[in-house]
Amino acid sequence: MTDYTGRWTTVKTEVEEGIAWLYFNRPEKRNAMSPLLNREMRDALELLELDAAVKVVVLTGAGESWTAGMDLKEYFREVDEAPEAYQEKIRRDASTWQWKLLRMYQKPTIAMVNGWCFGGGFSPLVACDLAIASETAVFGLSEINWGIPPGNLVSKAMADTVGQRKALEYIMTGDTFTGRQAAEMGLVNRAVPLEQLREETRVLALKLAAKNPVVLRAAKHGFKRCRELTWEQSEDYLYAKLDQAMHRDPEHGREQGLKQFLDEKSIKPGLQSYRR
Ligand code: COA
Repeated sequence: MTDYTGRWTTVKTEVEEGIAWLYFNRPEKRNAMSPLLNREMRDALELLELDAAVKVVVLTGAGESWTAGMDLKEYFREVDEAPEAYQEKIRRDASTWQWKLLRMYQKPTIAMVNGWCFGGGFSPLVACDLAIASETAVFGLSEINWGIPPGNLVSKAMADTVGQRKALEYIMTGDTFTGRQAAEMGLVNRAVPLEQLREETRVLALKLAAKNPVVLRAAKHGFKRCRELTWEQSEDYLYAKLDQAMHRDPEHGREQGLKQFLDEKSIKPGLQSYRR
């Protein structure tokens, strides 16, 4: 198994039971996303995607924060005077992992929100497939409080998960809300007491790790893409994904599932997965 110890400074990961626990690792700066963190997170995600020991990635924060959003000093102020081309590169480094890579990641992803989650943090939060928060985690679209509209894909992420009234209320007031409220508005799947957060996330991650990975990837990509396609395009795309999954699947899941249900009568797919 690959040992990632000491590979990065602003990011760290531990792989256990097929789960890569991937941390924002600047607790003293509330895990704010600096240009270095953005580059290291991209590197980490690309390595974990190719690591056969990793079945699921859980994105979480070291210490008491998930992430306090973009680093106001290192990502904004210190880059303001840099050449325009460099500023563009810094933005691209952020977008590359925060939504482009994460949104269509090959493996299932879970955001485990353990504490503060502000501003730019909403892009990776929504780009993860699923999210579980501590009931007491504090979320906020704080951009309005320091003088900019939400940048990157923050507003798009809100529009994709939360209704207009709630989204605009938080975007326009900058008021904070809790993990419990985030669950009520559909921004996260559920909120649990902090002391149960890791175990609840682990159980969900293991459930995903037990599924056929090729089929799981086709299922999540199909859903995410078809949100932006017409019904006709969606039908074509989703059938193409289905055929691709059958063609690519080395374990022939469909054949196994049908055999175990129809011939052996050994499973009820409505209630459980086929035996792999
Ligand atoms: N960018 C840069 N530095 C940040 C940061 C950010 N987004 N969030 C926190 N930090 C730094 C602070 O500057 C401070 O650094 P210092 O010790 O060198 O002075 C350190 O992290 C601790 O922050 P502090 O404010 O003392 O922690 P807190 O626990 O009292 O408050 C927050 C936590 C998250 C409520 C507060 O830090 C905050 O409001 N951060 C900004 C959040 C934000 O607006 N993010 C949007 C970015 S798009």
